[in-house]
Amino acid sequence: MGDELDVFRLDGRVALVAGGGGAIGSALAAALGSVGARVAIVDQTDERAEAAAAPIRAAGVQVLAIGADVTQEAECDRVVAATLERFGHLDIHVNAVGGGAGKVLFDAEVYPRDAWDWIYELNVRSTLCSTQASARAMIAAGHGGRILSISSVRASLGINAGYSAYVAAKGAISSLTRQWATEWAKHGITVNAIAPTFVDTPQVAMLLGDPAFKAGIVGRIPLGRVGGTSDLTGAAIFFCSDASSFVTGQILGIDGGLTATQ
Ligand SMILES: NC(=O)c1ccc[n+]([C@@H]2O[C@H](COP(=O)([O-])OP(=O)(O)OC[C@H]3O[C@@H](n4cnc5c(N)ncnc54)[C@H](O)[C@@H]3O)[C@@H](O)[C@H]2O)c1
Repeated sequence: MGDELDVFRLDGRVALVAGGGGAIGSALAAALGSVGARVAIVDQTDERAEAAAAPIRAAGVQVLAIGADVTQEAECDRVVAATLERFGHLDIHVNAVGGGAGKVLFDAEVYPRDAWDWIYELNVRSTLCSTQASARAMIAAGHGGRILSISSVRASLGINAGYSAYVAAKGAISSLTRQWATEWAKHGITVNAIAPTFVDTPQVAMLLGDPAFKAGIVGRIPLGRVGGTSDLTGAAIFFCSDASSFVTGQILGIDGGLTATQ
């Protein structure tokens, strides 16, 4: 008799983690590797990708580190080609590039175009380009696949802190999750997203370093704390494995109950 937990295993699968050098991306890459996946970690530079790859490789996981700008189509094609060359196939694509909100806070009525474009490039263009390249490979191979993006509670909740571009960008990620799920179901590809509230990472360290801001955030989260990267890994394994075979187009809030209160 098989173990019920076997459906969460990823032995033999290959996962490409765009933004795998980042705080959340590296945690997700390590988690997928820990349940059997071979992992391609993609980040802006070879050095950044390799820095995240080294400890995962040391834990016994086969890891390929690739430096690339995933806002560029040719770069995304190169990344997919390198992954296929090394591992032979591609089964899972994770989008963990993004963020930037805390660096460009402006009142909505004067939100500047250059900041808007930068947030869109970082969050939406990166997700679009890299997902398209991986999806083309999955469709061509004909074996289905799993796509997981990181949206945010900000896709559905406003915040009185100059976040116009970020909330719009994360709204786009959530909408694309539903759209891609609809279009690519016929290829056996599921597309889902996780939507965290604040996760304690370097990106948001400055915001969370303001005691009044942090108290305001934590005060609205029923479980009484912000997230950690380890809060995201169980859901990522679920969405990237056979455990979620009949789940697509879903956006799971990982937010300590924040959205339940709205
Ligand atoms: N940290 C949070 O509180 C939080 C909350 C909700 C959602 N998110 C989302 O989670 C995702 C990851 O956030 P994080 O905190 O790990 O950020 P991070 O900055 O630590 O990681 C992002 C990674 O993407 C890489 N990157 C940026 N542009 C790239 C490009 N063009 N090509 C290749 N790589 C590129 C960066 O070098 C970095 O390593 C983002 O989409 C963010 O919006 C974060």
